[in-house]
Amino acid sequence: MAPGTELAELAREASGCVRCPLSAHRTQVVFGVGDPHADLMFVGEAPGRDEDLQGEPFVGRSGKLLDRLILEELGVDRSRCYIANVVKCRPPDNRDPKPDEIAACRPYLSAQIELISPTVVVTLGNFATKLLLGTDRGITSVRGLSYPMGERQLVPTYHPAAALRSGGVVVAEMRADLIRAKQLLGWSG
Ligand code: URA
Repeated sequence: MAPGTELAELAREASGCVRCPLSAHRTQVVFGVGDPHADLMFVGEAPGRDEDLQGEPFVGRSGKLLDRLILEELGVDRSRCYIANVVKCRPPDNRDPKPDEIAACRPYLSAQIELISPTVVVTLGNFATKLLLGTDRGITSVRGLSYPMGERQLVPTYHPAAALRSGGVVVAEMRADLIRAKQLLGWSG
């Protein structure tokens, strides 16, 4: 099978998904983007307005910051990584995704992680971190470490929107978390 075929098939299946009420409000499903065999995967929360319109995760202001931090700390651009979200459809008015919506979308995220098989998964913010780490603890108390997730390593960090709101210290901690991911990947430089 050609590289990425199963992931592309999954994306095609997801594009018509009506497993939860978010499907009624979306412009399109924002499945994920990047290298289907990336060593590094980022998981955010949910598409916002820009993502819903463009069909790609993290293309708005948060995404610009994420791109910059990936480039500056990891020395690569987003095409070397895979980027997805906990839920694939935009919640109305950018509200938080609800537990039933997260549960309905979970099989897509699990399949993405299995098929891409990254070495390191960086979770961006509370929703992705709580889901994949299976914890109720907030991002501030769990970040700063890496956690085994089966054969992979999970590195929790802040959501870039939090960094945009809070500024310097949060950005610096995100940079430190990305450096931790880089070390786990064995990427030099
Ligand atoms: N915030 C997210 O969590 N995901 C996106 O794709 C964009 C903003």
